[in-house]
Amino acid sequence: MRKIHMFDTTLRDGEQSPGVHLTTEEKVAIAIQLEKLGVDRIEAGFPAASPGEIINVQEITKAVRNTSIAVLARAHKKDIEAAIDALRGAATPCLHIVLATSPIHRKYKLNMTKAQVIETAEMAIKFGKNYFSEIEFSLEDASRTELDFMYEVVDHAICAGATVINLPDTVGYASPETFGEMFRKVRENVPRLDNVMLSTHCHNDLGMATANTMAAIYAGVDQIEGTINGIGERAGNTSIEEVALTLETRKDLYNATSNIVLNEIYNTSKLVSQYTGITVQPNKAIVGENAFAHESGIHQDGMLKESSTYEIIKPETVGVSSSTIVLGKHSGRHALKKKIEHLGYNLTDEELAHAFEKFKKVIDQKKYVVDDDIHTLIDEDYVNKNT
Ligand code: KIV
Ligand code: ZN
Repeated sequence: MRKIHMFDTTLRDGEQSPGVHLTTEEKVAIAIQLEKLGVDRIEAGFPAASPGEIINVQEITKAVRNTSIAVLARAHKKDIEAAIDALRGAATPCLHIVLATSPIHRKYKLNMTKAQVIETAEMAIKFGKNYFSEIEFSLEDASRTELDFMYEVVDHAICAGATVINLPDTVGYASPETFGEMFRKVRENVPRLDNVMLSTHCHNDLGMATANTMAAIYAGVDQIEGTINGIGERAGNTSIEEVALTLETRKDLYNATSNIVLNEIYNTSKLVSQYTGITVQPNKAIVGENAFAHESGIHQDGMLKESSTYEIIKPETVGVSSSTIVLGKHSGRHALKKKIEHLGYNLTDEELAHAFEKFKKVIDQKKYVVDDDIHTLIDEDYVNKNT
């Protein structure tokens, strides 16, 4: 089974979420938890952004010794020098250089010809290679880059010394079908790719970051990049937890696995949410509050008989203590009976029918009922009779 390398960018792309600013202590605490989670590489920041960011990365390199630490640099000497400063004490450093390659970025952002893009990439990689053995090169906006030009850039980047080639869907424009095809074609047309790691990095502008990442895995990439809870620029990045659980749940399809310690996922999600201030939407896959909650009577009935009827992942697998049966408007008699028994009552069928009638009236006025509501709706008669 293939092992997919998990590159976590919660502390770089994730911190680029509008409104997020992590302190050094918070960044270090998240990095320590990411190491516990088992990610293979942590992108700790963008050192050229500020002197404070250099200190953040330096502190992370002191606290995290068994996981590779990467930092981002544009293809400028000045950025690479900041990266050298930041990573000086790292146990397994990686320099991540980014340069845009798409026609839109070349024309409006960089004002560079194709030849200038290749020359700039080569210069930056060769300069970085004097200091780092591991160099990732990202072709920013790869999914909107002409294929022939992409092959050329990738080949030159490998010859200059890149050890990881990352093809990002920077603006979340790709669709799974075309994105998978892009990776197949690049492998076919750049034989030198067999000697380096091929990576992807997706954004969620059309809600397809994880789908596109899985298509890239299916097409043979070795590494995926993502963040915890899917935080990141605009609509965010691929969620690391979604990819890890898809690999775990659909081994039949992907025949691949990762080093992620699955039962650390929920703790990591909570920590990232607490420090970034970005709450997780309740219906978020894997880590949302409702990910293991069941409200409808039909589903509750199935769950109470056999959980695999409505759960493809066991909550304990990701560190959640148990599924929850929510008593709401769509809930049925079976779930109410279980709840009542759990609260210590033993009702006859007639008493249960009466309690269920009262429950349906109560729930018309509320979103869900709590234990106190159940105690109240069970007849005084019943209590008197049984005490
Ligand atoms: O989205 C992007 O293209 C990036 C690169 C730095 C990989 O974040
Ligand atoms: Zn990104």
